Amino acid sequence: MHNSTLSRTPENVEIVPRNRHFNIDETLATNWHSDDPFRTAFFDAMSILFPLGEQFFIDSVKAFRGQIDDPELQRRVRGFTAQEAVHRREHQHYNEALCRARGVSLELMERAVSRRQAFARRALSPMQQLSGTVAFEHLTAILADATFRNPEGLEGAHPEMKALWHWHALEETEHKSVAFDVFVAVGGKTWRRRVSMALVTVEFTTHVIRNMRLLLRDYEGSRLALWSGGMKFLFGERGALRGLMRPYLDFYKKDFHPWDHDNRELVSSVMDEFGGAAVNPV
Ligand SMILES: [Fe+2]
Ligand SMILES: [Fe+2]
Repeated sequence: MHNSTLSRTPENVEIVPRNRHFNIDETLATNWHSDDPFRTAFFDAMSILFPLGEQFFIDSVKAFRGQIDDPELQRRVRGFTAQEAVHRREHQHYNEALCRARGVSLELMERAVSRRQAFARRALSPMQQLSGTVAFEHLTAILADATFRNPEGLEGAHPEMKALWHWHALEETEHKSVAFDVFVAVGGKTWRRRVSMALVTVEFTTHVIRNMRLLLRDYEGSRLALWSGGMKFLFGERGALRGLMRPYLDFYKKDFHPWDHDNRELVSSVMDEFGGAAVNPV
């Protein structure tokens, strides 16, 4: 019998799938974040990764459904799957509208990720795939946390876009321990998730940068100024991603659990905005 980590997930954190639609088609034709091409491209580049990525996460967790005895964890897996399925749908819509408006090919933008995934599905064991998902889910969890902790990151963004990113960040927080708890319940080892995290960090960063370069390829000003200003926006004194190093590194600790970072307080105000109960149950 493997040790369960489910007990370390706070009982009052419900995974609530909110069937939201966002009206963003026209906004995506503009530099919707502060009229700033870098900021806009940063978020757009992440969005491009989600439909494929989240399908992979769903599949890798579902592959172990038959091995989960705990009905509470089963219930949480269903919540996780439902949330990620709506995220996929909304980001697919986002990406299609974005590529239409910008005259870029979505197929081209997704090509590298889709090749990497085909390789992963073919060459990696289900346990390795799940371990990759656990690592990715930690990255999304700490990015979500930064969204609320460092509100400057979305200051000046179009309100509907801000709502979309807040909604996604809230739900990533609610389900942040699901893949992890499944991984532990089916015997996943600490060393394996450490290796996955090292690989996944490089993978994620590379894909975001590549997509940003594709989205910014027609930018006419100085690229040096664009990227150095962008780095300041991300990692500067009031940077959107400041303070991420410690929670990132915590993942490598032997007894780490995603809810060691208890940010329930932080997301509660956003939860009021989106409702703690499903708006339209999926
Ligand atoms: Fe998601
Ligand atoms: Fe997620």
